[in-house]
Amino acid sequence: MNGRGRTVRVARTAPDGRRYYEDFRVPLGPQTTILDALLYIHRHLDRTLAFRYACRQAMCGTCGVRVNGVERLACYTLLGAVPGRVVTVEPLRHLPVIRDLVVDFGPFFRAWAAIRPAFVPADNDGAEPARIRPDDPDRRVIDRHRECISCGLCYSACDVVGTRPGFPGPAALNHALCLVLDRRDGAGPDRLKPIDGPEGCWACHGLLACSNVCPKGLDPTGAIEDLKRLVAFGRRRNGVAV
Ligand code: SF4
Ligand code: SF4
Ligand code: FES
Repeated sequence: MNGRGRTVRVARTAPDGRRYYEDFRVPLGPQTTILDALLYIHRHLDRTLAFRYACRQAMCGTCGVRVNGVERLACYTLLGAVPGRVVTVEPLRHLPVIRDLVVDFGPFFRAWAAIRPAFVPADNDGAEPARIRPDDPDRRVIDRHRECISCGLCYSACDVVGTRPGFPGPAALNHALCLVLDRRDGAGPDRLKPIDGPEGCWACHGLLACSNVCPKGLDPTGAIEDLKRLVAFGRRRNGVAV
């Protein structure tokens, strides 16, 4: 690191649960990430700072925070690229704060569980299980919705998650579409039932906040629009007014 530095303002939690902000001065190099800054604070300035990380290369999804109000992976965000005099680092929204930047992912994964996230092998009347080769066009359709690392950035960015407790959130709905589109999955229409309703896909206003922050380039907004179409066509097929 060179001699330059930046002020990083970190959301902290007092022993009595009170929230406050604390400023730290950290060295700045061309490749310094937000995670590097947090590690510097932890190693040199305050050993009590609590935050999560594991892979350090945008794969594990554990280091999500808000940087100047925008959801980011700490390991994948250059400190020098963040505009403003002070860089504010806060925990993700809509999840209970355990301490400092560490949140409880319980609500995120309970929403995930609500959409039946496990693959259900289709019943092929005793025939070979269905397969999809990597070059199969059906596989490409699914691929657009895979590679979610459960980082929760989209969940935090979604205002509807904060106002509609029953809304599963963008990541869960993106995963639901991934399974619905997979011809090897046997749960089919049953997957759409819990999604169809005022607290389901119809609650999404489609303003792209989730897609804008996804570090894997996924498009949960587009996935939810596709789910709405599938739900609506399914109702029409069953003779229900849409
Ligand atoms: S597009 Fe829908 S799911 Fe995505 S942030 Fe907006 S309301 Fe939430
Ligand atoms: S959809 Fe993207 S932002 Fe949302 S949890 Fe998955 S990887 Fe993270
Ligand atoms: S530490 Fe794994 S995604 Fe950042």
